[in-house]
Amino acid sequence: MCGIVAATGIDNVIPMLMEGLQKLEYRGYDSSGIAFFENQKISIVKEVGKLSRLAELLKTTPASSTTGIGHTRWATHGKPSRTNSHPHFYEGVAVIHNGIIENYAELKGKLTAQGHIFTSQTDTEVVSHLISGALKSGLAPLEAVSKALSQCKGTWALAILIQGYEKQIWLARKGSPLFIGVGHRFHLVASDVPALLPFTQKILPLQDHELAEITCDELKLYSSDLQVVTRSFKTFAYNPMMAEKEGYKHYMLKEIFEQPRAVYNTITAYLHHDDYTVNIPGIPSDFPIPEKIFIVACGTSYYAGLIGKFYLEQAARIPVEVEVASEFRYRDPLVDSRHLVIAISQSGETADTLAAISIAKHKGARILAITNSVHSQIQQVSDATIETIAGPEIGVASTKAFTTQLVALSILSLYFAQRKGLTEVVSEWIDALFDCPSQMHHILNQAPQIQVMARRYAHATHFLYLGRGNLYPIALEGALKLKEISYIHAEGYPAGEMKHGPIALIDEDLPTVVLAVQNAQYEKIMSNLEEVLSRNAKVLAVASSSDHHIGTMVNDLALIPSQIHEMIQPILCILPLQLLAYHIADFKGTDVDQPRNLAKSVTVE
Ligand code: AGP
Repeated sequence: MCGIVAATGIDNVIPMLMEGLQKLEYRGYDSSGIAFFENQKISIVKEVGKLSRLAELLKTTPASSTTGIGHTRWATHGKPSRTNSHPHFYEGVAVIHNGIIENYAELKGKLTAQGHIFTSQTDTEVVSHLISGALKSGLAPLEAVSKALSQCKGTWALAILIQGYEKQIWLARKGSPLFIGVGHRFHLVASDVPALLPFTQKILPLQDHELAEITCDELKLYSSDLQVVTRSFKTFAYNPMMAEKEGYKHYMLKEIFEQPRAVYNTITAYLHHDDYTVNIPGIPSDFPIPEKIFIVACGTSYYAGLIGKFYLEQAARIPVEVEVASEFRYRDPLVDSRHLVIAISQSGETADTLAAISIAKHKGARILAITNSVHSQIQQVSDATIETIAGPEIGVASTKAFTTQLVALSILSLYFAQRKGLTEVVSEWIDALFDCPSQMHHILNQAPQIQVMARRYAHATHFLYLGRGNLYPIALEGALKLKEISYIHAEGYPAGEMKHGPIALIDEDLPTVVLAVQNAQYEKIMSNLEEVLSRNAKVLAVASSSDHHIGTMVNDLALIPSQIHEMIQPILCILPLQLLAYHIADFKGTDVDQPRNLAKSVTVE
């Protein structure tokens, strides 16, 4: 969602701001803008659309400044327009914001009654008005920011410029991430680490409710009651290649091909093949074995959770409920201290998942985070963590984060199985998991055939995806991938449910993707396949390489190796579906890495 950068130094910071915003493009946005000091006055440049349009504007009116803030906006309140884009400026105060000021309408009403004139439809604009009002009442900048925020409800990461203080930037965080980086005579701030890493690896995450004031040489941190806080910077690892496309046309394609490595790195971080043991450093030694587990997550992470249920129940024999976080948080769930709540989140910042775990924590449950973002808010509020070692995922459509989440869930299942003395399953699954990366390579080698296949289906307007057992969530995830990046309507269904309604949709214009690999449910899914074929649908099957029969029945085939353990089938079967979605989207010419309306970190409800 919205991206924030801010910088103050001794040299011109505008190029730094623009590069930082570029690094945040993957989060999703529809307009952008910067504010900076020029001749001791705050100047603002904004534009709708891609960042390149803002860069064009800056070419015609070149800017140079040692202090500035920049923003990419993902519209929530008010449509994308120059007026609604950030920074918002009112009487000497320029503000950029990520989050939502929930009581903005009430505040706006009060301020309007006092004579304030608003120009935008956004919630953010009230913040600049409140700060300017507090400054006028005689407060110093820090106190004015604090007073303004004390009147706001909601979430925010904020960066603020104030007329008359051309070497300072004020920052505040509540519920939305903000990171401060330090370099030689500059401080650089961003809402996500990748925007900082090319400039500095010394980074300090601002904590919830903290405020900060930065100059080129100084950082002052404050608690919500304005007490000085001291905390030191951490060094973050940075490999410049990690965030580049390395010759791939899109980040998504690169990330699809990175999966064998990401899966291998995650497996080897926690599993020992030599003595068949599991060791998860992020779980405290006295962590109890729960009576029951709840998994909460959104989108792709939720689908990973559905497969996690199979893993945890099969290997660790612990009952599991899986729920979409935005539902869990509003239904007064029956969770207590006997339970474990697992939050799965690639970004570690998803607002609904965060809210769900704070409710569960309040009710006494322990929280375990599975995340690809180890310094994230979700990780910080959790009692235990399993980090997925996927590396940065830039494409909005999740691929390697998903497969490493599946691996992390299988590892957690084995961790509990090991503690319960279920050694047989531990060694059997460890063998299967170590086999996984090389099997993934075999499947990815079919990319050229899948690309050809994708062209044949790119003109369809609807798709159906069918699966059973632990491949039903793969049908859901395959359909989601297609929807997200190609904008084609797709539905995932448990194949056994088909005759209870969706079968009415089937005709020659509804391509149907059937996950028909050889496993315990093979016979059942083959019956469903027959039902689909007899209604003239075009069928694309994901099947086992030793299944010579299915090839004579269906229109197209993607193969996964035969004689593999059923527990790794979901990790393998998603690969052809990712490639299919990618190549259809690429053929249609959509914005694969930044699909319309989507954001990488969904930090608002
Ligand atoms: C995945 O392709 C999506 N972009 C989306 O469904 C995502 O998985 C969801 O928003 C949850 O994000 P998280 O894993 O960062 O919490």
